[in-house]
Amino acid sequence: MSLLELNSLSAAYGTIEVVHQVSLTVEAGEVLALLGSNGGGKSTLMNVVSGIHAPTQGTITFDGQDVTKLSASERVKAGICAIPEGRGIFPNLTVKENLRLATYAGVSQADVEAIAFDRFPRLAERKSQLAGTMSGGEQQMLALARAFVVKPKLLILDELSMGLAPLIVQDLYSRVAALAAEGMALLVVEQFARTILPLANRAAIMSHGVITHVGTPDEIEHTLSASYLGA
Ligand SMILES: Nc1ncnc2c1ncn2[C@@H]1O[C@H](COP(=O)(O)OP(=O)(O)OP(=O)(O)O)[C@@H](O)[C@H]1O
Ligand SMILES: [Mg+2]
Repeated sequence: MSLLELNSLSAAYGTIEVVHQVSLTVEAGEVLALLGSNGGGKSTLMNVVSGIHAPTQGTITFDGQDVTKLSASERVKAGICAIPEGRGIFPNLTVKENLRLATYAGVSQADVEAIAFDRFPRLAERKSQLAGTMSGGEQQMLALARAFVVKPKLLILDELSMGLAPLIVQDLYSRVAALAAEGMALLVVEQFARTILPLANRAAIMSHGVITHVGTPDEIEHTLSASYLGA
């Protein structure tokens, strides 16, 4: 049995369906890269998995449990943590206050800060700063720090790189690799295929609301370059 099983999931905005009967699995400890063109439905699908957006059809099984009807916070307790597109932090709270929100997982504030500041010393320097006034890279560090504290079974990342300089993206993905090395499963939406494919065990391409390809990172890289060339 896979850690995450999406069975024939569909999702819509109003009457317009944008995800069409998607089935996909993520194994325990696996890094699955989800690639594809703009507007393909990747973020919508991620929001369905994390419980922010209700599906119109289909089921989600996680760790042997049907979580389709669970709220987003119940899914967090079950072990699904998501950093949504556009940074999963509270901009009007300070760094410390954002980290305090990770204490519901049963870790003390002191331990949360110790873990987060040890991994990301930059956050310690900025602990009293409003998160929304930090740089984009620092905000993503804060969002990732939460994953190190909460240690979910599955971490969903949606365009971690958005709007960030290449060196910062490289640094963030080295942290992501560390999470994967600790055995966390990752479902990663990323527009820069070359950044994520080297970290991935498998990759999938989503286009116009359907998964068109699933394969090894090499197979998917070939598929992508063929389609870029118009082949
Ligand atoms: N809140 C919304 N209301 C109405 N339509 C939406 C909403 N959010 C997304 N859509 C539409 O749903 C479709 C899928 O969008 P989605 O954001 O899931 O794609 P995506 O693959 O994440 O794209 P990108 O790579 O640009 O982030 C698009 O046609 C988009 O315009
Ligand atoms: Mg998106």
